[in-house]
Amino acid sequence: MKIGADINLAAELLSKGELVAIPTETVYGLAANGYDADAVLKIYRVKGRPQFNPLIVHTDSFEKISSFVMEFPDVLQKIAHKFWPGPLTVLLPKSKAIHDVVTAGLDHVAVRIPSHPLTLKLLSSLNFPLAAPSANLSGSISPTTAQHASKQLGNKISYILDGGKCAVGIESTIVSLNKNNKVEILRYGVITEQDIAGVIGYIPQKKYTNSIESPGLMKSHYAPIKPFILGKMNELLQTYKNKKVAVLSFKISHKSENICGQIILSEKGNLNEAAKNLFAAMHQLDASDADIIISEQVPNYGIGLAINDRLQRASV
Ligand code: TXA
Ligand code: MG
Repeated sequence: MKIGADINLAAELLSKGELVAIPTETVYGLAANGYDADAVLKIYRVKGRPQFNPLIVHTDSFEKISSFVMEFPDVLQKIAHKFWPGPLTVLLPKSKAIHDVVTAGLDHVAVRIPSHPLTLKLLSSLNFPLAAPSANLSGSISPTTAQHASKQLGNKISYILDGGKCAVGIESTIVSLNKNNKVEILRYGVITEQDIAGVIGYIPQKKYTNSIESPGLMKSHYAPIKPFILGKMNELLQTYKNKKVAVLSFKISHKSENICGQIILSEKGNLNEAAKNLFAAMHQLDASDADIIISEQVPNYGIGLAINDRLQRASV
């Protein structure tokens, strides 16, 4: 496996049906030719991902999207024009160009134009979109550096396109239209419900999906190997005073003799910065010699909803 910034090599491997890990502004993706069912099947095998969990398709222009969807409803176009390239995914009715393995048999395909310059350049050189879930083993912590991706998948893929540390750090906000043509949020991200309300004039509902419909929203996800326990920090420190604990804190430094590693997500209490640091902090604490990781929630508004969502799914 090689790590580098060679877009031509990445394009060549993808054209041959190989998998390549690619940087995006949210997290690294594990990419395959979205028109090649055999290549896409490799993604499920390499990640150990259940085949009922559909993938997001990435491309670089509205024109290319029109070649693989049946329609792009106006209100979703309006939202997409506002936030693309960027950390937003929309569900659109797929055409036959997208094989059922990409959408796990669903009739809508998740679509995103990411904003990472290297990946945008790669996408613009390709005549096919890239199906790409996050570049981690199924259920474990998402990668925000090439090294994270390499640690989990390095022996299973031939190339990682290195675009540095992801600027956003948590996965895209996913939106769709419900039967009444109202916009719904399927997954929280750094584009908040207020941001979307600014475009459509109302706060979108959160859609509570069952596991078949959007399994990546399954309860256990983003999980470290060590037990990850969420709660009020003072109570957790008391409860686990006889264990070696690694602490994931929002903005203050906690003191206790049994703390053997601590990461503060944002000393300024800035939620953007906390999102950017979240997964790297989880990777680092998971590699420490603590028995368990204890973590507190962040304020539950705006981007905090997305961070708390990831913390809850990571926790036991
Ligand atoms: O920021 C992101 O979205 C990153 C980067 C790589 O683009 N990708 C990502 O992919 O987070 P993944 O596979 O880890 O999460 C995609 C989520 C899953 O929860 C999946 O179930 C849901 O999107 N999803 C994908 N296609 C869907 C569809 N057709 N209908 C409903 N949910 C879908
Ligand atoms: Mg994922």
